[in-house]
Amino acid sequence: MNPEEQSKVLEAWQASARYWDKYRVLIAQMFAPLTSGLVEEAQIGIGQKVLDIGGGSGEPSLTISCIVGPTGSVMYTDPVAGMVETAQAEAGRRGLINIHFRQCSADDLPFEDRAFDVAVSRLSAMFFLDPVTAVREALRVIVEGGYVAFVVWGPTEANPFFSTITDVIDRFVEFPKQDPDAPDAFRFAVPGKLAGILVKADAENAIERQLNFQIEAAISFEQFWQLRTEMSETLREKMARLTPAQLPTIKQAVADAARRYFVSGKMSFPAEALIVSGRNPTI
Ligand SMILES: C[S@@+](CC[C@H](N)C(=O)[O-])C[C@H]1O[C@@H](n2cnc3c(N)ncnc32)[C@H](O)[C@@H]1O
Repeated sequence: MNPEEQSKVLEAWQASARYWDKYRVLIAQMFAPLTSGLVEEAQIGIGQKVLDIGGGSGEPSLTISCIVGPTGSVMYTDPVAGMVETAQAEAGRRGLINIHFRQCSADDLPFEDRAFDVAVSRLSAMFFLDPVTAVREALRVIVEGGYVAFVVWGPTEANPFFSTITDVIDRFVEFPKQDPDAPDAFRFAVPGKLAGILVKADAENAIERQLNFQIEAAISFEQFWQLRTEMSETLREKMARLTPAQLPTIKQAVADAARRYFVSGKMSFPAEALIVSGRNPTI
């Protein structure tokens, strides 16, 4: 990704920040299994110093701040000002004092070598400017033997939370085929791709695990439709290209495709993520 593409990515996230704030409770709930997966994988516990890379509206930083407790700490990072502001405001509302905030990009971390015990990143690695440099940076700032752990989405076919809408829209409007290395939620969906980047960045014991879970929340199809079409810049862009006449047809087709995921006032989508971890080599 060149710097121009990177600034487009950051602008898109800046535009998304208010929606990630608006839906923060649902986001925390829906993606909680991803945070648990990262905490388990990186063996995060009381008293640790944890770096969160690309923390968005605050997760997993806010959850981990409670796990490490007052003897530990969390350094939340994100390159987008709007994201940092919303996460910081939420930490303030919750009275969390062991969490610190820095606006920075994954590929240029403003921290000393070995400043943290572990580094984690939830759903952010797909947007890194230069993933190998970013993983090297994460390894540089953690202690010898410390873990880096990233969670990314698995294939779109295994993630109907996303594909039920995009599959329908793509039938109506043609979009140019994307470069598989372009910043996108599914950039690392191919098994082994992100693990290969960890190996390239000299992480030790690079491992990839598949995490299957349910994206669940007590919301209706209508609320799901609103949340998805607001939160995603890609969808906002695609929707903007539809004619007003296409919109109700598309929404109805999505409602039909999504019906089986909404039962008794609850949304439940099967989902697949990949947790990719490695360790900082011990010299
Ligand atoms: C899908 S959101 C995930 C946010 C949060 N971790 C969560 O799981 O709710 C992706 C985040 O990656 C951040 N991001 C984009 N480019 C980045 C970069 N170069 N370095 C670090 N984070 C980046 C975005 O600003 C955004 O907050």
